[in-house]
Amino acid sequence: MSRENNTNYLVIALPSGKLLKPSIRLFEGVGIDLKGGKEISRKLTFFDQEEEIKFVITRPKDNPTYVECGAADIGIVGEDVLLEEKKDVYRLLDLKFGKCNMVVAVPEKKKQGKYYKNNGHRLRVATKYPRIAGGYFKKRGIYVELIKLYGSVELAPQVGLADMIVDIVSTGRTLLENKLTIVDEIIPLSAQLIVNRISYKTKHKRITRLLQDIKKFISLESDKITEW
Ligand code: PRP
Repeated sequence: MSRENNTNYLVIALPSGKLLKPSIRLFEGVGIDLKGGKEISRKLTFFDQEEEIKFVITRPKDNPTYVECGAADIGIVGEDVLLEEKKDVYRLLDLKFGKCNMVVAVPEKKKQGKYYKNNGHRLRVATKYPRIAGGYFKKRGIYVELIKLYGSVELAPQVGLADMIVDIVSTGRTLLENKLTIVDEIIPLSAQLIVNRISYKTKHKRITRLLQDIKKFISLESDKITEW
């Protein structure tokens, strides 16, 4: 049987982008061979034959979809994606890396009084996260117009597309360089380990063993992990 079709393989979905490097570091730390992953260019799958693991690289937002559908048994995903996409997967572990914050930010010059008062006109909020942003304002009884963008949301207030943004902040550099300031913190976020509901039963032993190894490694690295 070719390794591609071997159902004994544990399929792990890693997100491309900022979480890829720390994810590779994590699996290397628990003794899994990711040589293939280091040469990733446009290749989206690679294998550890000895451990019978297949890695697939997904777009970060698609990661929980692969896991929900069972195309992958396990995934690593930013909590922002998990909260926004609402997929039916088990959350196994907070991985402690990829820490950031979901915030509301406004142009520096507008930060006077209550940021959500806008003289009668409906506030426009640019975001990649309409579910999270919508929930935040609804909870506070603030009526806003959500403008869904796919990236670089910091641009929106500068060109008059929005009054404010809801986005993730990690180092704070993007906000600073675009003269935006935080007016509220919505929720702290980090990378999460997720698992497909059925795989968790059918591959329980392997997944539990891997989970134990990951937990152990994370606690050993606890003082360095936020720097990954
Ligand atoms: C994220 C986020 C901010 C930036 C924050 O964007 O949406 O723009 O990172 O990081 P910082 O606080 O360290 O500056 P990403 O890099 O994923 O790109 P995107 O805006 O194109 O989605």
